[in-house]
Amino acid sequence: MLYLLDTANVEEIKRAFDLYPMSGVTTNPTIISKEKRSFLEILKEIRAAIGEDKMLHVQSISTKVEEIVKEAEYLKETIGGNFYIKIPVIPEGIKAMKILKAKGMNITATAIFTADQALMAARAGADFVAPYVNRIDNISGNGVGVVEEIVHLFDIYAIDSKVLAASFKNVQQVHDVSLAGAQSITVGSEIMDGLLSHPLTEWSVDQFTKDWSGVYGEGKVAYNSK
Ligand code: E4P
Repeated sequence: MLYLLDTANVEEIKRAFDLYPMSGVTTNPTIISKEKRSFLEILKEIRAAIGEDKMLHVQSISTKVEEIVKEAEYLKETIGGNFYIKIPVIPEGIKAMKILKAKGMNITATAIFTADQALMAARAGADFVAPYVNRIDNISGNGVGVVEEIVHLFDIYAIDSKVLAASFKNVQQVHDVSLAGAQSITVGSEIMDGLLSHPLTEWSVDQFTKDWSGVYGEGKVAYNSK
């Protein structure tokens, strides 16, 4: 499982990358616009915070092939490092994927609501496909079911593209897509924390500290106790 953070908030990114085994960051136009400042400044700060090797997935705004291609090349050149252009699975987007793949660009197909969209994007050259789990659930669909279908189709057709499951509302959805075989997920920092948090873990750690301190003293740890 690869963990990516779905945010453009640099402080949240620094914290998560410091604590957790993160593989990258994803953004979209909505996420970036929430920061209300220069998007290039934000993206450069994210790159500086995560280093050159971690993945940074940035979405194109354009909906026309030539513009998507130009945007992708500009962003890759300007931001640098391990860069992925996110392209929505509209017809012009699929054409742009074919062109950009031929130029060696890393591609993430996004705004995916059906397994057929994912399959076509993968055939057009997408390295990752991003099904929107919670948005599918919200239209009375089955987000995890769509992820299962994509994993199954990629298996049948021996396709190398990976599922980057996205749009989560809770930890259970993440758990379910992991069991369905999604290779990667992108989540906000609250869900990232939630994947680890358990009241009994916290209770157990408190209990260990209390028992230890009762005998060896407050603040004592292995290297300064006898
Ligand atoms: C990531 O690639 C998607 O843009 C994102 O996860 C969408 O999430 P939302 O449905 O919570 O906005």
